[in-house]
Amino acid sequence: MAKKLRSTEWFGRQDKDGFAYRSWMKNQGLPHHLFDGRPVIGICNTWSELTPCNAHLRGIAEKVKRGVYEMGGFPVEFPVTSLGETLMRPTAMLFRNLASMDVEESIRANPLDAVVLLVGCDKTTPSLLMGAASCDLPTLVVSGGPMLNGRFRGERIGSGTHVWKFDAMVKAGELTKEEFMESESCMSRSVGHCMTMGTASTMACMVEALGMGLPGNAAIPAADSRRQVLAHMAGRRIVEMVAEDLKPSDILTKAAFENAIRANGAIGGSTNAVIHLLAIAGRVGVEHSLDDWDSIGRDVPCLVNLMPSGEYLMEDFYYAGGLPVVLKQLAESGLLHKDAITVNGKTQWDNVANVEVYEEDVVFSMDKPFKEQGGLVVLRGNLAPDGAILKPSAASPELLSHTGRAVVFEDIEDYKARVDQPDLDIDASCIMVLKNCGPRGYPGMAEVGNMALPAKLLKQGVTDMIRISDARMSGTAYGTVVLHAAPEAAVGGPLALVQSGDEITLDVEQRSISLNVSDEELAKRREAWKPVHPQHDRGYVQLYQKTVMQANEGADLDFLRGGSGAPIPRDSH
Ligand code: FES
Repeated sequence: MAKKLRSTEWFGRQDKDGFAYRSWMKNQGLPHHLFDGRPVIGICNTWSELTPCNAHLRGIAEKVKRGVYEMGGFPVEFPVTSLGETLMRPTAMLFRNLASMDVEESIRANPLDAVVLLVGCDKTTPSLLMGAASCDLPTLVVSGGPMLNGRFRGERIGSGTHVWKFDAMVKAGELTKEEFMESESCMSRSVGHCMTMGTASTMACMVEALGMGLPGNAAIPAADSRRQVLAHMAGRRIVEMVAEDLKPSDILTKAAFENAIRANGAIGGSTNAVIHLLAIAGRVGVEHSLDDWDSIGRDVPCLVNLMPSGEYLMEDFYYAGGLPVVLKQLAESGLLHKDAITVNGKTQWDNVANVEVYEEDVVFSMDKPFKEQGGLVVLRGNLAPDGAILKPSAASPELLSHTGRAVVFEDIEDYKARVDQPDLDIDASCIMVLKNCGPRGYPGMAEVGNMALPAKLLKQGVTDMIRISDARMSGTAYGTVVLHAAPEAAVGGPLALVQSGDEITLDVEQRSISLNVSDEELAKRREAWKPVHPQHDRGYVQLYQKTVMQANEGADLDFLRGGSGAPIPRDSH
């Protein structure tokens, strides 16, 4: 016998409560037959004009609805908190967990049998996945798709990546302010999210690699009509998923996370994927640790020649075959759990077995990869006992084993005030250290880890230096940047004890990051250490600061780990 639909508890009632549930819905012009027990599909939308990357999602929602109706479902679109990366202060990451609570409670409180998540900009993907995973109703993710390639003076330019490049060129006197301004509109010329392999594109690939999106989800440009077809097909499929009772907990298995880690290596994906996947795994109770990123992802070569590590963009990636051709190569090399189930009810291997690469300059082969090492490196040592990460494919090889003198910035304000001072005692061999930018310190763990180099060094032609912090880095950024040092400085992690002039050794081969200062001296400094930033005393930020976990645990709020499913809430009528 088919399982009773959750929505029937609302719309199937013949009493006064049922009257209320249906009657008010009918003010939208919904005919009575929609309440006849068919699956109610929530379309959880992060559309917002303040999230430009997601501003086209209402159109996408209409296409999902078409598919739902075709299959005899009842689609209902609802908004949730939308996190726009470019505008929100102090950082959209501060609100990822808040948005996930909104998603979780919106789903649980309403008469839904399944959800389609419409996502795009960086934090919108993990926040919706986290919230939906805690409810565990059948869930299918549709990404909004990347913008078309940026183009400036005959060259491809990539979201974010070229902002850093152009900014450095202005500082080095190689680009005028007028040219800098002109490039703005050349970069963002269509609907969609950042079209580099930044965090949004990475997370769209993670959705596909985890099995939570349809094949092709990641790369189809937002402006391409085939993105709308994908949304339509998602609408059709989610109705079937209700009948099959195919839930996130069936799909988001340990194998799925391992597939995602390897896919992230093969695409040269964003370091932010680490923190988001750790948080998502925490919601579904899958054992997944920071060390998995090194042990499982270590030997994965980077196949995809996309900015920031390479030269192409997501539109090119789509024409080359998109993520399916990458997953196929991983599978053929024994680096993918082929039998992992995906939202379309097929295995990863079923989905990719017949695809082929069309542009070998964009998607390389396992025999001749774009870069030998695509995976992220997890570093440990007395500077980051709970771990820190580095993306070798975005780093300078000559800096991967280096000892240098620390130049310390106590927080982001200190950095901004001093970095370009002509008398700053720094040269290219130094190691820049930024403190108090972790989850609690900033708060929100902003993307400031790839701090720009001092202007005087840029003018000398220096293009990279080692930078260490407890912050994150934009997925569109590059450089030899050690991130997510845990525990963070604001909770008294060893990073708090570093002083300018100390010697630091980075040894990527050995996976170590060491502060070459004696234990006695560090103990003395620890005695004298005091937290520098006050705690917020009200509202969400207070809750966040009190309960946020460290980066190596996904920076979720401690009381949000796990899920409680989607029980039917008590009646209030
Ligand atoms: Fe939205 Fe980059 S700013 S994806």
